[in-house]
Amino acid sequence: MNKLWDKGFEVDEKIAAFTVGRDRELDVSLAPYDILGTIAHVTMLESRGLLTREDLEKLLPELRKMYQKAAAGEFAIDPDVEDVHSQVEMDLTRKLGDLGKKIHTGRSRNDQVAVDLRLFARARMEKTVGKVKVLFDILQERSEECKDILMPGYTHLQVAMPSSFGLWFGAYAESLADDLAVMKGAWEVNDRNPLGSAAGYGSSAPLDRGLTTRLLGFGDLDFNSVYAQMGRGKVEKTIAFAYAGIAGTVGKLAMDCCLFNSQNFGFIRLPDSLTTGSSIMPHKKNPDVFELIRSHCNRIQGIPNDIGLITGNLPSGYFRDLQLIKEVFIPMFSELDDVLDIAAYAMKNVQVAGNLMDNPVYNAAFSVEEANRLVEEGVPFRDAYRRVADEIMDGSFRFKGSINHTHEGSVGNLCNDRIAARMEGILSSFPFGRVSAALTSLVKD
Ligand code: ARG
Repeated sequence: MNKLWDKGFEVDEKIAAFTVGRDRELDVSLAPYDILGTIAHVTMLESRGLLTREDLEKLLPELRKMYQKAAAGEFAIDPDVEDVHSQVEMDLTRKLGDLGKKIHTGRSRNDQVAVDLRLFARARMEKTVGKVKVLFDILQERSEECKDILMPGYTHLQVAMPSSFGLWFGAYAESLADDLAVMKGAWEVNDRNPLGSAAGYGSSAPLDRGLTTRLLGFGDLDFNSVYAQMGRGKVEKTIAFAYAGIAGTVGKLAMDCCLFNSQNFGFIRLPDSLTTGSSIMPHKKNPDVFELIRSHCNRIQGIPNDIGLITGNLPSGYFRDLQLIKEVFIPMFSELDDVLDIAAYAMKNVQVAGNLMDNPVYNAAFSVEEANRLVEEGVPFRDAYRRVADEIMDGSFRFKGSINHTHEGSVGNLCNDRIAARMEGILSSFPFGRVSAALTSLVKD
């Protein structure tokens, strides 16, 4: 194997294969970010006199070409190379000779992989935020469109009170807004540059960490080098919590859909074309789409726990254990993105049933309405409660009034505009513009 750390003795091939693990496959996702980190690092080295102007003028065009290829998905890690960090340095050395060997001054693969993961996660969070907004908008539209269509609300899965499809769709939209508030917190923890912490204790090279922070479009740096290294695992877990929050919302929505789509409820219906069939039962039109959304969401909710277990009880300082986080962390982004796409598609198409509350099985759902009506007539609530309870027990209960809910967040006053404003506030707090401006100038010739 071709190793950066070759010291002249052979390493056991079995040990090499085991320790590299799935890095060759997973690190490909980090390649564009490893190259961006390298562009920032060599630019900084030149500014500190650790590379000459001529060195930089040879390195930058080569790195930018590599970046374009990697961004187009054309970066490969050779079978005899350990990881993306080694491949980038070896490719440069192949092209530029000894100059390629100078770029690792003042850095380690430990801060390199940390910065790669933060740049990767930052790009992927931006993508996910966009997809959450698409689902949010659909849920809000459906909420407005169905605001006058009543459905029963449940507690303990027992008929409870009148609800509405407006309230139901809108609840999940509001939940997504809060999920993005958590995502913003995770974004901030991730928005700090660990580059320059080297192996986890800094370097005697006169690095300018502020410069690489600006060049890479980070909001700030992780100051303490030991802490920067401790971020490995902590940052991924924080982001995974944010993803788990979104997955919690979408998984619950999927479960509601499975339940409400059942013939015994009949509240919603998936158009036939969105259902799947059975190989034996000719009548089946199954909501597999919601079942798979649910199980993906459940799996995603386990990821913070996976990371917690991989990193549990590790002291400060780098350990190879951290490599395994990538196996659960890197695939998480597309798993949730795919779920969000299909959930948006399904929720746009789901059909809702009208006149549900005319069904006598939901008669008792109006018990509180009737008690409140009696209260308005001057009956104390406890007496009204008792009178309605007696009527329900002897079968004579009929609700005589009409539904009139007016307070914020009730059937008659959904506050969707205020929820949308909250969402807008959260979305506009993500500094996506700062990031793209920095990266554009980093890669332009
Ligand atoms: N593949 C390693 C990881 O993901 C890269 C860092 C290697 N550092 C080391 N000291 N062996 O953690």
